[in-house]
Amino acid sequence: MCGIVGYIGDKNVDAVILVGLEKLEYRGYDSAGVATISKGELGIRKIVGKIWRLAGLLNQKPLGGNVGIGHTRWATHGEPTRLNAHPHVDCNRRISVVHNGIIENYYTIKEKLLKEGHVFESETDTEVIVHLIEKHMDGNLEKAVFKTVKDLEGSFAFAVICEHDPNKVVAAKSGCPLIVGLGRGENVLASDATPVLSITKEVLDIEEKEICVLEKDKVSLFNFDGKKVERKSRVVEWDVEMTTKDGYDHFMLKEIYEQPRVIRDNIRRRINDDYKIDIASDFNLTNGELARVSRIIIQACGTSWHASLVGKYLLEHYCRIHTEVDISSEFRYRNPVADGETYVMAVSQSGETADVIAGIRSAKAKFLKVLSICNVMGSTVARECDGVVYTHAGPEIGVASTKAFTAQLLSFYFLTFYLAKIKWLLSDDELKRLLDELKTISDKMEKFLNSDGKLNKIAKKFYNAKNFVFLGRGINYPLALEGALKLKEISYLHATGYPAGEMKHGPIALVDEKMPVVCIVPKSSVYDKMVSNIQEVKARKGRIIAVATEGDKKIKSIADYVIYIPEVSEIFSPLVVALPLQLLAYKIAVMRKCDVDKPRNLAKSVTVE
Ligand code: G6P
Repeated sequence: MCGIVGYIGDKNVDAVILVGLEKLEYRGYDSAGVATISKGELGIRKIVGKIWRLAGLLNQKPLGGNVGIGHTRWATHGEPTRLNAHPHVDCNRRISVVHNGIIENYYTIKEKLLKEGHVFESETDTEVIVHLIEKHMDGNLEKAVFKTVKDLEGSFAFAVICEHDPNKVVAAKSGCPLIVGLGRGENVLASDATPVLSITKEVLDIEEKEICVLEKDKVSLFNFDGKKVERKSRVVEWDVEMTTKDGYDHFMLKEIYEQPRVIRDNIRRRINDDYKIDIASDFNLTNGELARVSRIIIQACGTSWHASLVGKYLLEHYCRIHTEVDISSEFRYRNPVADGETYVMAVSQSGETADVIAGIRSAKAKFLKVLSICNVMGSTVARECDGVVYTHAGPEIGVASTKAFTAQLLSFYFLTFYLAKIKWLLSDDELKRLLDELKTISDKMEKFLNSDGKLNKIAKKFYNAKNFVFLGRGINYPLALEGALKLKEISYLHATGYPAGEMKHGPIALVDEKMPVVCIVPKSSVYDKMVSNIQEVKARKGRIIAVATEGDKKIKSIADYVIYIPEVSEIFSPLVVALPLQLLAYKIAVMRKCDVDKPRNLAKSVTVE
């Protein structure tokens, strides 16, 4: 995980790097640091904790200069201490490195370097990079980096500056994301596009096994063999305003409230006036090829895995495609049975989750086609797949995923209806009916978000509970998993999501008069079954919090609390059901005084296995 930034130019380097690191803080926030070269001398500031502490330190003791690198850390090798915080330096404190990833052979390299007389300060794997660069340095920084990368195994995106070659930042990428922003008389690099946006929207995607050299007026690109690479830049469609809280207390809250707009904009973008779904522009596959898909294995992690479970329901129901959903860290180590008509799908907000990428690569090694649903343009997932449906949710900064989840669901609706149509399984009339209803969903989401008063009362009642159970059935069973995950992630309460019908095979033993049980029970084909399950909870004195359809009086007579959502067809209900679950978790976390946007131990983009 971790986030890195590098800058060269005339702006205040401390400030540019700090602002950049703030944008990347979602990637880790155990410690942070900056190194710059000012008046020919390397200076370093680092702290344990979050970026605001680093800002305080830089305020007291600014660094300055025209070239610098910065890092925000999610600890892998070595505790989150000041010594283990990046940037790391060589023996003579003239070279400094920030690194995202893991150097798997660091131990062997370190032993060798120790024998050669290098002195190490930290317990990190990263430190071997800077000592290797020191060893290879003979006046030209990129040449030293070319030699260094040959020794490294594992995954990395690192950036380095050096007193002996001070007018550049050199960076290398293998297995971790790296993007360069092309400014005028200034250039910037970062782990994703968000830190770059305050300087430029023109970016270069750094590909695998490439090294880039940033000088004030130019950026040069090479492969690991030192051969020059030419690449066209692209323009990022995100704006810097999208990466601010915009008056909300937390990014998560802002992102929850952004959902109706994201859904509305996406529908406008994807569905034309003739009810044609436009999703295949980023596919290297023909409709003929797509129509032959007989089996899909979806692999994803976390919230994206939950969206995929809804996707399975849709693909099976409308396209009659046999669909499996696997957790990426499991998928990559099994040997799935797959033939030519089996497609693998990767679903990922960031497009950089290490296990998802490994899953894609293992599928490609079996010559399977891979489609993805992804939020970040130019990310590794998007680049490595045969087709990508972008979720266009804008940057998601809160660690707990919200708007990316509903945007992933929407992408599954688009993909499902598109495939069903080319497979001749959906008539024009039925498609029109479905899309007409889909177009109404964003207003319903907005209506709910503007009337969430009940949730405060429920959160107040239960924010001190020890455990929560979430129950759902059918297409809303994954929503029970998602509701429980949201609560766990940001409020540190134990919560379990379960298929309601399975509750009697275990979790019902947990139910007593103290146990809040969130029951997802909108009007649907499994409504009566769900009501029976709720009665079973009630009979054991569980505290029932129902998420039900407006006007449902029956549920009011059974549940302790009812959160009403606007009426929608069962098939689209997850889009609306997600909202009260996200808000409940949010409100409870705020009442428990948790750091909502940066929950402990988590990171938004998990770029390690
Ligand atoms: C982390 C995040 C989750 C996210 C998961 C998958 O665990 O904290 O919010 O759902 O990674 O991330 P991806 O970017 O692949 O969707």
